[in-house]
Amino acid sequence: MAEVGRVLFGREDVRRRVAELGRTITGDYVGREPVLVTVLKGGAMFLADLVRQIDLPLELSFMAISRYGDAEESLGRVQILLDVEIDLAGRDVVLVEDIVDTGLTSRYLLSALRARGTASVELCALLDKTARRIVPLAPRYAGFECPDAFVVGYGLDFRERYRNLPDILQVDDVDALRADPDALEPVSPAV
Ligand code: IMP
Ligand code: MG
Repeated sequence: MAEVGRVLFGREDVRRRVAELGRTITGDYVGREPVLVTVLKGGAMFLADLVRQIDLPLELSFMAISRYGDAEESLGRVQILLDVEIDLAGRDVVLVEDIVDTGLTSRYLLSALRARGTASVELCALLDKTARRIVPLAPRYAGFECPDAFVVGYGLDFRERYRNLPDILQVDDVDALRADPDALEPVSPAV
């Protein structure tokens, strides 16, 4: 039987890349106190690891959104369920996203944040699925170029499952997962 999924980026690759991103952001924001905003729930793991690699005073904040339509296909119509509680006027904001796919969600959130009179807003995405981009949008900081495939783990879910996997897995047989959401066997780490 063909495997349903396999490790795309192992936990050690992720750890190294997140540390690099943290160093880059540290260098870029020296002398400033950025606000790192992430979108629940997928961005939570990335944010938690990223901020521990940033050697600056910073603030954290969270947003939660719901998308209309199928949970696997964003249609870009976004409702804000939980909003940033910090006054963002004059602040340097980094929007931290698990993945940028079509770009519709990030575009919406970036403009919603900029509308608050921020000094700057940049996008930091762990995964950049450029092949699926609908709107022209390039993250200022991107962890990995992601192939045009469905991925889970390290915050990313399929029907709320697999967010807690330490590795990022590529799903090769999405139909098998639709038929049985537990079809993805935990695989041994590629460390
Ligand atoms: P976009 O608006 O199409 O860029 O969608 C971004 C959101 O879709 C992400 O924050 C994820 O919640 C979800 N998403 C996109 N691709 C994947 C994937 O491969 N696995 C899991 N979730 C995904
Ligand atoms: Mg999701």
